[in-house]
Amino acid sequence: MMSGEEMKALLLRRARMVEEFLPSCVGGDMPPRLRDSMLYSLQAGGKRLRPVLCLSCAALFGLAESVVLPFAAAIEMIHTYSLIHDDLPAMDDDDLRRGKPSNHKAFDEATAILAGDGLLTDAFGRMTTVDLPASRVLAAVGEMARAAGSTGMVGGQEWDMIYTGMPPVSLDELRRMHAMKTGALLRASCVCGALLAGAESIELQRISRYGAALGVAFQIADDILDVVSDTETLGKPAGSDAEHGKNTYPSLVGLDESRRLAQEQARHAQEAIASFHGPEAEFLRALALYTVTRVA
Ligand code: IPE
Ligand code: IPE
Ligand code: MG
Ligand code: MG
Ligand code: MG
Repeated sequence: MMSGEEMKALLLRRARMVEEFLPSCVGGDMPPRLRDSMLYSLQAGGKRLRPVLCLSCAALFGLAESVVLPFAAAIEMIHTYSLIHDDLPAMDDDDLRRGKPSNHKAFDEATAILAGDGLLTDAFGRMTTVDLPASRVLAAVGEMARAAGSTGMVGGQEWDMIYTGMPPVSLDELRRMHAMKTGALLRASCVCGALLAGAESIELQRISRYGAALGVAFQIADDILDVVSDTETLGKPAGSDAEHGKNTYPSLVGLDESRRLAQEQARHAQEAIASFHGPEAEFLRALALYTVTRVA
């Protein structure tokens, strides 16, 4: 088993790689205000978990980080767009993100919407620059499009809005919402890394189960942190879910049961990749645990 320290060191090293590459993903002839707005959110920090998962799942099958890096960075662009739009007054109406004023507060609503649109669209262009066989890149781009779109993250965000202010939904409905709004992108981050590395079908299935379980665990932990943590630690407004009448795991089943369910999902994630050995597999198993023990 990899120690927590070793896991954090590799997580940080890969997050820094992504961090250094991201500024090169925004450029060309565009209004300076739009560029500033896109860079503002992209460079505000964040755990960079999704690109790290992509790099790590590629590394599990022997593919060099540097080759996958543009694709991994593109995933972070999609994630960042989703956060900008998630914070808008029409959605969660949150004024703080990654320890700074939300994009629509630092700029304005129209610019925040367009910065999100720009990041999302440019991300798909960036993915096509990966220097690998076209068939692999195409498979990964398709995977990412399905995960980010209406049957994935966007659909999940719509369920989230529909359920806001509603009486408690069923646990099945909540599970579906979490799997879509958060699980889909985390799962696809893993699957795309493996696809780009040329993993086989049975291996892809295992990685997919790992990513899906990790994704749900991650969002349950996010719901819990919204209740138990504070704004300074989170870098986003604590207590926002209750304030806005969100249906969440803690609101539906309480904190203790939420913690148990998050742990259970993290264990499912680890079990899904039990047949893989070596330091990269150990790192992925340690990351699954991290998603539910993290403090921010
Ligand atoms: C926040 O994601 C949105 C969710 C899906 C819960 P993260 O917790 O990964 O946010 P950053 O990227 O670290 O800021
Ligand atoms: C957001 O879920 C999921 C996204 C797809 C952005 P939340 O609304 O709980 O995320 P936070 O807590 O604002 O980061
Ligand atoms: Mg939300
Ligand atoms: Mg939110
Ligand atoms: Mg949240």
